[in-house]
Amino acid sequence: MVSLPRAGRMSLILLFILWNVMKVQAVSYRARPESMTVREGQTVTLRCAFIGLTSQSVVIWEGPPNFNVMSTDRRVDSLYKRHRITGNSGAGEYSMEIADVQVADEGGYRCSTLGLQEKAEMMLNVIVPIKKPPKIVVRDTSIFAGQSLTLSCRTAEGSPLPTLTWFNGTTQVKQSNKKLAEGVAMASLDLVLSELTRWDDGRNFSCMADQGYPQLAAATASSTILNVKYSPVVRIRSQSIQASEGETLDLSCDVDSNPQAAVSWRKLGGDIPANAENRGGTLRLLTLDRTAAGVYQCQANNGIAPSGVGSATLTVQYPPHITSNFNRKTSPFVGQEGFSLLCEAEGYPEPRVRWRRKGTKLYFGNPLQFSRIDYDMEGDYECVASNGQMRNAVRQIFLDVRGKPYINTVSLKVSVRSGDTARLVCEILSDPLPEETRWLRRGPGQQDKPVTASQRPGIREEETTSPRGVTNTLVISHVGRSDGGVYVCETTNTFGTFQREFHMDVKDTNTQSVVIASVTVIVLLILFATIFVCIAKRTGLSTGVNKSREKTTGSTLTASRALPPLPPYLDARSSPAMDPDCDMDGLELQDFNGTLKPRPPPRVDKQPYSIGLSYPSLMHPLPPYSTVERQRPDGEDNMLDSPYPEDPWETEVT
Ligand SMILES: *[C@@H]1O[C@H](CO)[C@@H](O)[C@H](O)[C@H]1NC(C)=O
Ligand SMILES: *[C@@H]1O[C@H](CO)[C@@H](O)[C@H](O)[C@H]1NC(C)=O
Repeated sequence: MVSLPRAGRMSLILLFILWNVMKVQAVSYRARPESMTVREGQTVTLRCAFIGLTSQSVVIWEGPPNFNVMSTDRRVDSLYKRHRITGNSGAGEYSMEIADVQVADEGGYRCSTLGLQEKAEMMLNVIVPIKKPPKIVVRDTSIFAGQSLTLSCRTAEGSPLPTLTWFNGTTQVKQSNKKLAEGVAMASLDLVLSELTRWDDGRNFSCMADQGYPQLAAATASSTILNVKYSPVVRIRSQSIQASEGETLDLSCDVDSNPQAAVSWRKLGGDIPANAENRGGTLRLLTLDRTAAGVYQCQANNGIAPSGVGSATLTVQYPPHITSNFNRKTSPFVGQEGFSLLCEAEGYPEPRVRWRRKGTKLYFGNPLQFSRIDYDMEGDYECVASNGQMRNAVRQIFLDVRGKPYINTVSLKVSVRSGDTARLVCEILSDPLPEETRWLRRGPGQQDKPVTASQRPGIREEETTSPRGVTNTLVISHVGRSDGGVYVCETTNTFGTFQREFHMDVKDTNTQSVVIASVTVIVLLILFATIFVCIAKRTGLSTGVNKSREKTTGSTLTASRALPPLPPYLDARSSPAMDPDCDMDGLELQDFNGTLKPRPPPRVDKQPYSIGLSYPSLMHPLPPYSTVERQRPDGEDNMLDSPYPEDPWETEVT
């Protein structure tokens, strides 16, 4: 190249000056094109306007790809059919309108004219929403608990490619990396579920595709419900069932399995009652009887090992039944030692077996033991079997005491005034009845001579017969001093003879004044004692006594409250120390040892237990352990607390 001629150099300088002049009056943007994001198919206007355009000015749009010139002034290149320039040219407006925007329209745009200091550049983003939700691909169709499963979520649509997110129910568990998704034709996200459990069955896993422009393209989602197959799990609602005979009972077995399991029932070591109805998960046992008791097992099978097993133990309660088949009557002998009566009973719960005298509420243990038999013990006895919840079983036996006679008279000393009539009463218990009863008079040297009317006029015998023996009374009228002394009542039956001495004391009439004097002295003594007691009470001596008594009562109550409740058929063995005030209803004696007096006919005004009992002698012969049993004071044992002599719930077994 040769150097420029002078004139040329001059024109360059001029151009430079002109350039600077033009720069002073430079054009500028009134509306700069700004980046936009639109959805495919929309019509968009890219705004562009200038200030300071001259008639020589030329406005051009450049666009994708690579900023090709798209228009000159208002003329759009024929390649761009959906484009046109809009706006008032006179006001410097050269906006570009694009109808039905396509992905190809995406890219950088510039609107410029000569004389601009810098060309403004804008980006047009075109969003293509995905038309279908993402696709979930499950590689393994049949999954079992314990296995792992891969869930794949894919979409090949949309611009930009969406971000994929996995949800477990509503909890987000995994999200795809946005950056990785760029420039890739397909978005995909795998979720690996390792070691599925039965609790995963039916769970909803969903995959959401989101392009990040909620106004232009809504996020879409697909979901899949897991179908996890697992072996049956059996749950028995109640493992220990108690029922009573006659009831109808449903044994239920809850089975959790996929797919559904078939349930079968069996009874360990026996057969299911013939009238039972198998209703799958429920076994209905109709009108239970005691043989239905046992262990029932339900087995659930759905073809996936192991099968599920559940078991329930059924106990059937039934009322007591006395199994001992003892006779209606037994005849022990007077004086017999170690006689006992055994009573056996069955029932569930196991019955408590006790004995009582008929018509009383005083109980004895089983077997009923008699250390030594005597006539007092004759009578009806009842074996009572109770198991708390149901009616008691009762079986009666008559104790017919036999043997040689026994004289039961209490007052063996008789005092009469001379001239009066003396009566010596000889009460004889005897079975069989005595063959002979006679009176003897003991002479000097222990010689006994029969008393006869021929020897002593005015003497006679009166005899009355009772069911248990006879009463023979020796009546002596007009008693004189010579009649005093020892009389013997002698009685004999097949088994032997029994004698008892009676002492008769004959007093003179004048002894009467001595008696009156001594009675007067006693009355005076009692009077003084009464006065003393009254004074002691006033000074407060006895208040202290009362207080200490209250205290004792209070602590006893607390102690009995603190005791754990016992089943009513169990013994509440309490301290052997017997309180005479205590309720005698619940007593149970170990040994029927002859301390009971013969029972007079029951009287309505008395508690049944007190009939025929002599407390002081009762307390004495009991060994200090386990001999006295006291029932719970709260009265749950209705059998014992019943105020009626006969319990309406008892069944008599004959
Ligand atoms: C799904 O979520 C539940 C809690 O909602 C969870 O117990 C379970 O383990 C989750 N499962 C998986 C496979 O992540
Ligand atoms: C699963 O979850 C998704 C999102 O929570 C919900 O749209 C879809 O209805 C659910 N599918 C079923 C079968 O419940």
